[in-house]
Order: sequence, then structure tokens, then C-alpha cells
Amino acid sequence: MSIFITTERLILREITETDENDLFEMDSDPEVHLFIENNPVQSIDTIRSIIAMLKTQYRENGIARWAVVDKATNECIGWCGLKYFDQPLNNHRDFYELGYRFKKKHWGKGFATESSSAVLGYGFKHLAIDTVYAITDPKNLDSKKVLHKLGFEYRETFDYDGDLTDWFELEKRNWINK
Ligand SMILES: CC(C)(COP(=O)(O)OP(=O)(O)OC[C@H]1O[C@@H](n2cnc3c(N)ncnc32)[C@H](O)[C@@H]1OP(=O)(O)O)[C@@H](O)C(=O)NCCC(=O)NCCS
Repeated sequence: MSIFITTERLILREITETDENDLFEMDSDPEVHLFIENNPVQSIDTIRSIIAMLKTQYRENGIARWAVVDKATNECIGWCGLKYFDQPLNNHRDFYELGYRFKKKHWGKGFATESSSAVLGYGFKHLAIDTVYAITDPKNLDSKKVLHKLGFEYRETFDYDGDLTDWFELEKRNWINK
């Protein structure tokens, strides 16, 4: 299992099968899924296929969403990371998108911002990415707040398979922690 980053409170590493119960706890929660298709996960088998898909992405792209582990407890509290899109989305292709998701009991502790900031540093410095993108439901105010704190700028609202979705961008030169 590769560890990519440690921050003051967190470890970011590849997601493995050992995370399936933590991911199920997070992804079966309707509140966690309210602004992401509103379709909470019903079975651990679904989580297992997601983990298999992430392992393929690590292998093919060198990066994908990473497990976020609380250093103090060793609990996997959620995930955060860059997903590589090789298919077109909103007139872009071959780009990296920042995403994050945490168990509800760990919201409001600054973990999304702390982990995302570290992921952006990895992307801009280690992967030499020029621009990172992010998408969110316009009603997902907590997510938009995270993006604004990280320095992302709103660009437009587009139709993502029938759902209005906000598109954000962060260029390396505007990155607040560069
Ligand atoms: C979106 C999501 C990740 C945001 O998480 P979050 O915990 O609200 O975000 P943050 O990490 O920025 O933490 C927020 C608060 O923690 C507080 N906080 C508490 N202790 C802190 C600390 N030690 N350091 C920093 N902030 C701390 C901050 O005050 C901050 O609130 P503020 O921005 O009003 O000042 C979370 O709501 C979630 O997982 N939602 C479900 C999945 C989802 O929608 N994902 C996004 C899809 S686009």
C-alpha cells in the first residue's frame, strides 16, 4: 500500500480492500449522497467493485481518489484525490478533477480542506499539472465553500447528463499555497 502524503492530522494513501467497511459506512449514508446523485450504496458488493475500479485507475493513471486516514485513530474517514478524465466533459478532456467525500461524523473539522490542499500540492508539484478542475451540485454549499477556500474559481454551470452542475477551475499560478 503506497502512502503519498501526510499532513498535520492526516495520512493519504491508496484505497484497499481493508477500507471496505469504512467506505460502506460513508456511502450508505443518504446525507452523504444528497448532492451526488442521491443514490446511497446499498451493499458491500458495490463498494468492492468501486475499490476494484479505483485500483485500475491507480494502475492506469498513477492516481485516483485516495483514502484519508486520521493519524490519531487510524480510521479511514473518507477519500480525497484527483481523478483523471480521459473522456470529454463540458468540452474538456484529459484533465484532473479534485473530489472529496467524508463520513458525516467527520464534517466540520477541516479535513476536506486539509486533505485537498495536500492533494493540490501533489498535483501541481509532483505531477506538474497546470489546471485542476472541480464539479459540484450548485446546492452543495459545503463543497463550494471548500473550493473557494482552496482558491478555485467558478466558471460556469453546465448540463451533466441532465443535472445542472457547477464547473470550477484552479490554475497553478493562482494556487494559494504555491
Ligand atoms: C463536502 C464536504 C467534504 C465538506 O466537508 P467539510 O468538513 O464541511 O469541509 P472542511 O474540511 O472545509 O471543514 C469545514 C469546517 O471545519 C471547521 N474546522 C474545525 N476544526 C478545524 C481545523 N482544525 N482546521 C480547519 N478547519 C476546522 C472549519 O471552521 C470549517 O468551517 P468554515 O469553512 O465555515 O470555517 C462534506 O460535506 C462531505 O463529505 N459531503 C458529502 C460528499 C460530497 O458532497 N462531496 C462533494 C461532492 S462535489
